[in-house]
Amino acid sequence: MKPQDKNVLKSRGGLTAKLIFTYFLILAVSFFILTGSFYFLLRVSLFRETLEQLKKQGEILSRAYTVMEERRGPLGSFGEKEFFKLAGRMVVPKFFVLDQNDRVIASNLDKIIPEGIKMNEKALKNRRTISGKNFIAYNVPLKGASGEEQGTLVLVSDIGDIKAYNRSILRILLYSLVISGIFTLAIGFLMASGITKPLRKLQNHAKKVAGHIFEGSINLKTGDELEDLAESFNYMTERLKEYDEFQKEFFQNVSHDLKTPLMSIKAYAEGIKDGVFEGKEREEGIDVIIKEAGRLKNMVDDILLLSKLESVKDAYNFADIDILDVVREVWEKVEVIGKNQGKKMQLGIPQGRIMIKGDGEKLVNALLNILSNCIRHADSTVMLKVLQEAGRIKILIRDDGEGFKQEDLKRVFRRFFKGEKGDSGLGLAIAKAVIERHGGSISAANSRSGGAEFQIILGLAE
Ligand SMILES: Nc1ncnc2c1ncn2[C@@H]1O[C@H](COP(=O)(O)OP(=O)(O)OP(=O)(O)O)[C@@H](O)[C@H]1O
Ligand SMILES: [Mg+2]
Repeated sequence: MKPQDKNVLKSRGGLTAKLIFTYFLILAVSFFILTGSFYFLLRVSLFRETLEQLKKQGEILSRAYTVMEERRGPLGSFGEKEFFKLAGRMVVPKFFVLDQNDRVIASNLDKIIPEGIKMNEKALKNRRTISGKNFIAYNVPLKGASGEEQGTLVLVSDIGDIKAYNRSILRILLYSLVISGIFTLAIGFLMASGITKPLRKLQNHAKKVAGHIFEGSINLKTGDELEDLAESFNYMTERLKEYDEFQKEFFQNVSHDLKTPLMSIKAYAEGIKDGVFEGKEREEGIDVIIKEAGRLKNMVDDILLLSKLESVKDAYNFADIDILDVVREVWEKVEVIGKNQGKKMQLGIPQGRIMIKGDGEKLVNALLNILSNCIRHADSTVMLKVLQEAGRIKILIRDDGEGFKQEDLKRVFRRFFKGEKGDSGLGLAIAKAVIERHGGSISAANSRSGGAEFQIILGLAE
């Protein structure tokens, strides 16, 4: 592992803390908003409720006063004070009574509003401050039996009481914040570790893969995106493993296949130099050197072509082409070779044109690879047939040779796979890469007569 890789994969941690903090913050914010609005609403409704109570009690007293007045005479006369005191004790918590001159004639707030003092009742308000204390107040006119106003009853309630009540509710709410905070922390911790644990597993796996250890897979059963991520991770590991093995195999194959011709070139060249080969043998040696060097060049060309076909995106020049032109061009090249080897070459193509989107040069190369195999393996006949089907074309290439061994059928398109009569094992891999890049498919099988049969399917140009 390179030093910078270690840096990339270092463990940072802190996700648990971040998650818990976020979780807690959400709880605290929503709690404060809720508590704030609840507190405000409670205050307003308590104020309204108190005023309503004062009003009701005031009206009862006022009505009682009017009834009593018929029997007892006007306000201030004997007995009125006692009436209010008695009534006040029964009904109202705090009150005072003013006569028509705003003089206090009865009060159960003796310390704040003693009897006998004069009040300014002109500016009547529901909220008022008396001797530095805040009150909610409600004024009721006191009327005689004939309806004339004789004085005012002022009912009051201490705002401090409401505030104290409010404060006790707030205290309860704060306690519940603390308790729910503790629960939040506990749940948050459990939740966060539910997330960070699988992440840590993924991280450890990534470290292993980075170190070329592809064994084992991650098994997460979280039922969410993390499980998907783990599956993608396993898939990626699998692909990397394949690639790793492929690369090793590739280098082994390449070095082995390059070594063999290089060895014979070296042996002949040394023999010629040392005078071991002379005359005819010398000529033959030079021929071997030329032939093997040519083989090496072809192999290197094929390797380069294959890697280009599989990796470089713009290795292809797609255009509207007539596939029959491609087939005729290939046939022209292989017919002579086949005939020279005494093979019967049979071509069957339909009339007219069959247009496809493709790279003619690459397709020629692909078909050449397949046909040169067939010529090499055929006993007597090589056949190529083009069939036009609904929306696609089928190219059948067949020979009457020994065909494929059953166990080889799966491997013939692999790079460097070669059978007994094989050469470098790249031809069919190139053909497959080209056909698949054209959106087509290629398969190999043994024909009924036993020889090899290739089937290529390509889509037509739209
Ligand atoms: N027509 C065929 N009949 C029988 N076996 C075949 C035929 N075509 C291919 N094979 C088998 O498949 C193997 C792979 O073929 P491929 O064309 O990829 O490689 P190659 O012919 O050995 O070498 P290259 O084409 O790179 O020069 C061959 O070695 C051979 O064993
Ligand atoms: Mg071949």
